[in-house]
Amino acid sequence: MKATARANTNIALIKYWGKRNETLILPMNNSLSITLDKFYTETTVSFEENLQEDQFFLNGQLASEMEIKKITNFLNIVRNKAGITLKARIDSTNHVPTAAGFASSASGYAALATAAAKASGLNLSKKELSILARQGSGSACRSIYGGFVEWQKGEMEDGSDSYAVPIASDWKLSIMSVMLEQKQKEVLSREGMKRTVETSPFYAGWLATIEDDLANIKQAITNRDFELLGTIAENNALKMHATTLGANPPFLYWQSGTIEVMEKVKELRISGIPAFFTIDAGPNVKVLCEPQYEEQVYQTLSQLDAVQEIFTCHPGSGAILKEGI
Ligand code: PMV
Repeated sequence: MKATARANTNIALIKYWGKRNETLILPMNNSLSITLDKFYTETTVSFEENLQEDQFFLNGQLASEMEIKKITNFLNIVRNKAGITLKARIDSTNHVPTAAGFASSASGYAALATAAAKASGLNLSKKELSILARQGSGSACRSIYGGFVEWQKGEMEDGSDSYAVPIASDWKLSIMSVMLEQKQKEVLSREGMKRTVETSPFYAGWLATIEDDLANIKQAITNRDFELLGTIAENNALKMHATTLGANPPFLYWQSGTIEVMEKVKELRISGIPAFFTIDAGPNVKVLCEPQYEEQVYQTLSQLDAVQEIFTCHPGSGAILKEGI
């Protein structure tokens, strides 16, 4: 009753922002992401007879009670499905530098879902794994697949049609994670989306443009139209962040360095280098470009004082089981 899985993190080009069901983690809108090649979580789950409680070790350290509670809630879904009551030991290692500004929850819950399902004796399809991972962290449902991935929000109350699907493409884009010095504590994405949905008058405007953004970005992927892809992704991120300014109380994930990077990306474009940015629930900026411009983008952005480090990523694979470990 033991299995190990590895899953990569992902970056959304069309953001998931807002839930319609907090418990099942059902989103208000479809989202679209790229699973990355570099940053991943590896997790071993072992259901054992002699355990009284679930045990969770993160990067070799016993996790906090709050983290263990979250994991136990998630494992209860797996245990119910598998018809078992055994407690588990979970060992998880994040190969996602916190500093890189990627949420480790996406890779974390995609790896946990894959390992826990296998260890419990369940034989789940990718679709079922995506539904399971979603219940740990929304964005995790996309990390089950590699490359470009769409999370279809679904309509059903029980979440059975809310899962990710892969978009066939082997387009090799570059995604540069531009890391800034962390100056303030962030509003967690869970809290940020809730406040925005409940209080921001701009939230309706956000939702109203999603379908067009999705259709256009899919067209861009099909035609390998980088200008279009970048324009839509950048605009979509700006719209997401605009909703937070209308929230009550208002909040903003950006710092002065965030704006400096955004300005630099625009300057790069004016100088003829196609580069676009996107930003998640934090101050760091992810810059999209095509591989032939990586070096120039890297050099230009690393000159900014606010920039601490830049990690260059490319599309990577979906979650996998590590057999025989
Ligand atoms: O899945 P969560 O709770 O980590 O939320 C992710 C939210 C964003 O990163 C801002 C957008 C997204 O689609 O990943």
